[in-house]
Amino acid sequence: MSFDKLKLIEKAIEARENAYAPYSNFKVGAAILLSNGVYILGCNVENASYGLTNCAERTALFSLISNGYKKSDVIAMAIVGATPEPISPCGACRQVMSELLPSDCLVILANLDKKYIEYSNSDLLPYSFKEECL
Ligand code: THU
Repeated sequence: MSFDKLKLIEKAIEARENAYAPYSNFKVGAAILLSNGVYILGCNVENASYGLTNCAERTALFSLISNGYKKSDVIAMAIVGATPEPISPCGACRQVMSELLPSDCLVILANLDKKYIEYSNSDLLPYSFKEECL
């Protein structure tokens, strides 16, 4: 399905503005485009107990599920950080993305200059842990 990639990146930039990152000062935004045209947004949310921090990607994905959507509703996801090159999602988020996004879902990694690189979800975490492993 064709869609406006720059608009999805702009939504992730918009989501980033809500980031709560007083400890790292590193704000991240994520936006998920659904087939009904809805955008689900997420930002990183830090905590004084640092390990409780939730990354932007997982915030958006948990919001997706919390709002009653499924991976089959998802067209694409964009992630944005103030990085010189397009941001690279952490391993924990890649694991959650591997389960909650379609395996062939387009994932757009971007920076604030809207420089971006595209990946297929399954290429971001080869040999991920799956429910079949249980
Ligand atoms: N962070 C994300 O939100 N997503 C990433 O892909 C990388 C890291 C957040 C976690 C923490 O709040 C801050 O960025 C610095 O690591």
